[in-house]
Amino acid sequence: MKFGFIGTGSMGSNLVLAFVHSYAMQPDRIIVSNRTRDKAERLALDCPGIHVSDHNRDTAKKADCIFLCVKPGDFRQVLDEIQDVVRPNQYVISITSPVMIRDLEEHLDAKIAKVIPSICHAALSGNALLIPGTRFSDEDTQWLYQLFSCISKPLYVDEAHTRAASDLASCGPAFLANILEQWIQAAVKETGLPVETATSLVEQMIVGTGKLLTENGFTLQSLQDRVAVPGGITREGLHLLDEAFIPCFTRLFQMTHMKFSEDLRNVQQSFQRAEKNL
Ligand SMILES: NC(=O)c1ccc[n+]([C@@H]2O[C@H](COP(=O)([O-])OP(=O)(O)OC[C@H]3O[C@@H](n4cnc5c(N)ncnc54)[C@H](OP(=O)(O)O)[C@@H]3O)[C@@H](O)[C@H]2O)c1
Repeated sequence: MKFGFIGTGSMGSNLVLAFVHSYAMQPDRIIVSNRTRDKAERLALDCPGIHVSDHNRDTAKKADCIFLCVKPGDFRQVLDEIQDVVRPNQYVISITSPVMIRDLEEHLDAKIAKVIPSICHAALSGNALLIPGTRFSDEDTQWLYQLFSCISKPLYVDEAHTRAASDLASCGPAFLANILEQWIQAAVKETGLPVETATSLVEQMIVGTGKLLTENGFTLQSLQDRVAVPGGITREGLHLLDEAFIPCFTRLFQMTHMKFSEDLRNVQQSFQRAEKNL
């Protein structure tokens, strides 16, 4: 099977490297194209053997499975370019949440799925969120699941829940890194702990916590119960965090959903504009 990647930015490159490192794809079966060719060339240096094309149409024509890894605002143009070369037996996988499957199915005569990946796939971990489209048979769905099992723990989600699930699985690593960084800054400012010490403590703590959750049978709740003994310092800290974080995370979801609705509206408008011009 040949794989095509249109867009080799942050996530397009991450996927190519993860699939190759996991041996799910052989480099010589991969063709990539990117608006700025240099970026695709840089990926080819990191991943010798992949083919770089100047044209998205060429990528789409040569691949059996095409990954669309561009931002929502660039979708319309890419669809216009590849529309008349995609085939009904090809897979087209979009990794962009505000482009709806029904719109993709309307514009491309191929088997469409949406998959929201995560930076965690670089470590062959994290959840890939799978949303097979209406043209995916059971066999196609099984194939998709197996493909993403090579680099992640795939999880089926409803398209209606894509945003919330993406906030956790896909934006999550950045959100968590931000929280940890602020914690380090507070430690330095409040206590004078050297920044290198605070950083090392936090990095090792998060690695250890991940292992406890994945390898040692802990859950998020049992972890808190185990550390926060009654009357202890941790218990006090947890009360304070509950007060601070519940409203903060509520606002975070409201904000990401607002931005999602805005992107969705813009994408829909770009599709409508293109239809009027036909
Ligand atoms: N980053 C993540 O962790 C993540 C996670 C899940 C989903 N996603 C989704 O993945 C999509 C891409 O995100 P990203 O973070 O990879 O963004 P990015 O780093 O900006 O990459 C987008 C790439 O698309 C290329 N591009 C734009 N128009 C093109 C065209 N017409 N033909 C070919 N290539 C084109 C851009 O080329 P240039 O070099 O010319 O700019 C750029 O390299 C977004 O919809 C995002 O929501 C990202």
